[in-house]
Amino acid sequence: MENNKLILISDISKPLVKQVFCCAENLITLKNKTAVFLFFETSTRTKISFEMACYKLGVNVVHFNSETSSLKKGESLEETLCNIEAMRPDLLIIRHGADLNIKELYKLNLPVISAGSGDSSHPTQALLDLFTLQEAGLVEKNKKLLFLGDISINRVAKSHQNLLKDWGFEMAYCYPEKCNLNKSSENLKHFKNKAEALVWADVVMVLRLQQERKNFSMEFLESYKKNYQLTLKDLETVNSKKNKALKVMHPGPYVDGLDLDKNITSYEHSFIYKQVQNSVKVRAAIIYSLLKED
Ligand code: NCD
Repeated sequence: MENNKLILISDISKPLVKQVFCCAENLITLKNKTAVFLFFETSTRTKISFEMACYKLGVNVVHFNSETSSLKKGESLEETLCNIEAMRPDLLIIRHGADLNIKELYKLNLPVISAGSGDSSHPTQALLDLFTLQEAGLVEKNKKLLFLGDISINRVAKSHQNLLKDWGFEMAYCYPEKCNLNKSSENLKHFKNKAEALVWADVVMVLRLQQERKNFSMEFLESYKKNYQLTLKDLETVNSKKNKALKVMHPGPYVDGLDLDKNITSYEHSFIYKQVQNSVKVRAAIIYSLLKED
């Protein structure tokens, strides 16, 4: 990986993705390595799966708690990072609600993995989703992948747009009128109508509305629920119309009754828990690729 970093999805080349996926199946332990976890934002799946990945590899884990750190005394994040670097851990895994100062991260003299940054980047989620798609035999088959939700502030969708185009996917975006379009959606096909979009797609990646990053009015949320939530009924309708099964993905967490009907998690063609299951081995393989000694 470019300079031992996975901060943006563009830091990993296609041959290296193949190598990581291969290594996800045959992990070897790493001795005497220490990873520091800097999580400034809530996380369930990402944090636990990174931690499990470290334990699987035999990598020691040190957790940083921003609430009890010197940041509370006025130290800057840049200075905190310099101090952590000075202790010479082998790896830094960082998640932040704001877009991280990427230049500062690239300057650090140790491997760094982004576990999600602001609304712009979440490379490991994109990679584990790609691994899940590969496992289902859907890669490089000209499949149509639909993002359902507001991609304008969604870091998972943004990392996917840069990754999936190289793996033979045609991508589209289905969203309410009020979600601002930005540069990230320029190369996508657009739908306003959910039923039409679902008929077009082979796979639908449902996205959670990022309410912590944007204020949505009650009126918007009510109409979103009605028009953009994915329901079992939608799947029954589209599957009988197309005579084939639409696959469902979601990076999690989903909000029951807003972006997804919770019954979909047990739908036969849902990959939602598969994505979570794969998160441990794919993250372990990424850590292994960064820390292994040649
Ligand atoms: C995503 C995230 O945190 O960016 N989830 C995850 O990492 N599993 C998506 C989201 O929060 O909607």
